[in-house]
Amino acid sequence: MTRRGIILAGGAGTRLYPATLAISKQLLPIFDKPMVYYPLTTLMMCGIKEILIISTPEDTPKYKQLFGNGHQWGIHLEYAIQPSPDGLAQALIIAEDFLNKSPSTLILGDNLFFGAGLEKLLQQAFKQTKGATIFSHPVNNPKRYGVVTMDEHGNATGIEEKPENPKSNFVVTGIYFYDEEASSLARTLKPSARGELEITDLNCLYLEQKTLKVTQLGKGYTWLDTGTHNSLLQASKYVQTLQHYHGHKIGCPEEVSWKKGWISSEQLLTLAQALSKNEYGLYLRNLIHEGNQS
Ligand code: G1P
Repeated sequence: MTRRGIILAGGAGTRLYPATLAISKQLLPIFDKPMVYYPLTTLMMCGIKEILIISTPEDTPKYKQLFGNGHQWGIHLEYAIQPSPDGLAQALIIAEDFLNKSPSTLILGDNLFFGAGLEKLLQQAFKQTKGATIFSHPVNNPKRYGVVTMDEHGNATGIEEKPENPKSNFVVTGIYFYDEEASSLARTLKPSARGELEITDLNCLYLEQKTLKVTQLGKGYTWLDTGTHNSLLQASKYVQTLQHYHGHKIGCPEEVSWKKGWISSEQLLTLAQALSKNEYGLYLRNLIHEGNQS
């Protein structure tokens, strides 16, 4: 079965109030595009074309307005509601029918990943059919995340969610590759002390079964968290700087789709025309002139 994608763009975004009082956090811009463009593009880079977007009852119509059925980008998007923020692992239960027993990749709507080798690394995880693959990254403030401990060979020995005394500074990032068992395993979880179905508990089930692979995102990879006002602005500055110096956009679904041959140059031109008033549209048009479609 073909791997399907899930973007979880729920939550109230309380840490970003008042910026998120009237708008979903994942719709806020990171420099030149909505935040959710970045995780969507990451899934597309993996080769995933069937994607479910899960959001709150209030925000789901806005995502539909933004993306429609995704056919303009050669992908297929569906939508589902998470009635209340009851945990990341609940996404696998909500997505059960959509997944229809296929393997899945869950990505959080506020997670930004960059790195030259990223596409290759993700595609390796994409191909794995048994068990789960997660990605860890070192941070200075591990307390806020799922923290991974490893043995001397780099194999994961445990994961703790937001521990008071973190045993390492390697934390679990917000992209998770699962086999077709994920939804039924998620159904066995009990809510944690904070009342949520924890993704860490799901990952620990795979760990117990010895089928959890933890891949480290080492030097050369950037993982950005956009949870605070400062980190939000830093992410925008990072994207602006990188795009300016590299001349390539990050998180551009139109470009990924075209490069993968999911849309034609003609279709890309039509998308560019709709954005012709700014540099984004110009960028899309220039892609065709550069002519590096695969
Ligand atoms: C969640 C997960 C945590 C993970 C983090 C990555 O945290 O529970 O394990 O490290 O996403 O962004 P939350 O966003 O719920 O605080």
